[in-house]
Amino acid sequence: MAVDHITINDVGPRDGLQNQPKLLSKEQRLSLITALVDAKVPEIEVGAFVSPKAVPAMAGTAELFAGLANSTSLFSALIPNMKGFELAMSAQVPVMSLVVAASNTMNLKNIRMSTEDSLRVSKDVLNVAREQGANVQAYVATAWACPFEGKISADSVFSVTEQLLQAGASHIVIADTIGAANPLEVNQLMEAMASRFDFAQLSCHFHDTRAMGLANVYAAITAGIRKFDASIAGLGGCPFAPGASGNVATEDVVMMVEQMGFSTGIDMALLVKAADLAIKLTGTAKGGNAKPWIENYYLN
Ligand code: COA
Ligand code: ZN
Repeated sequence: MAVDHITINDVGPRDGLQNQPKLLSKEQRLSLITALVDAKVPEIEVGAFVSPKAVPAMAGTAELFAGLANSTSLFSALIPNMKGFELAMSAQVPVMSLVVAASNTMNLKNIRMSTEDSLRVSKDVLNVAREQGANVQAYVATAWACPFEGKISADSVFSVTEQLLQAGASHIVIADTIGAANPLEVNQLMEAMASRFDFAQLSCHFHDTRAMGLANVYAAITAGIRKFDASIAGLGGCPFAPGASGNVATEDVVMMVEQMGFSTGIDMALLVKAADLAIKLTGTAKGGNAKPWIENYYLN
């Protein structure tokens, strides 16, 4: 991975849509994913293999994978447990994402398991994944702050990350699930992470709840991180984490890093089209702060 390249994983079709009051049809979800593929977004989180009772918006994710032809984008899906892994394997999902919160209370609320139990289940999944040659990565959620427990210690993030990597996770996404981190603490944690682990195996996931999403991306870049989650049009939020609003918008992140001299390989004009579609489909997405500027100046 060249140091002047930044990889974007758009999580709009999963993190973005899971919290929408309006349930989209499979065709609508597919149209959003296709718009992101057309914009050459290199990685896309398509959906989640979770209980449809817990998250109705993610029902039918297997059918989405069946409807996605071979693509230039790398597709992933969230799995909370072994059942999710098995369903994702049957759907031939290229990359699966486990989720373990650094906070015990958040784990209990999100996937009804303690952090210890969730780590045990994740290790079991990673073992089976190794035997079956599946690519499984993991999210470390609430890495800076938890809506229930407050500040999270860096040591607990190191410990969860180390255990998941040792068990065979291909990549770790450090997530500010509720958008409560500030750039100083992002820089501190990610520098410490990059000194302990291979930085190429790390990426960051920020929510823009307090308008610090882009500042946090920048802070992680200065710590050496070169891969980020973002969500088209700023869609997003976790139904189980009070106060979490949308992810940092993909168009904002792409504009910022491209202006800083990084390449993303993304087609800005088609990315704006994907953002327009996300706004039209959901009726709630606002679009990134930079979107009007991109439309009026950058693309003219
Ligand atoms: N996919 C689909 N269904 C699943 C599942 C999965 N990965 N895991 C369990 N289920 C089903 C079970 O089959 C069972 O179905 P039934 O009621 O028809 O018999 C039901 O869910 C309950 O199973 P159980 O193992 O007791 O789970 P639970 O009630 O303790 O819930 C989770 C655990 C993980 C399934 C549930 O909390 C969940 O899906 N959470 C999603 C969290 C999420 O997506 N958060 C946002 C992103 S971080
Ligand atoms: Zn999120």
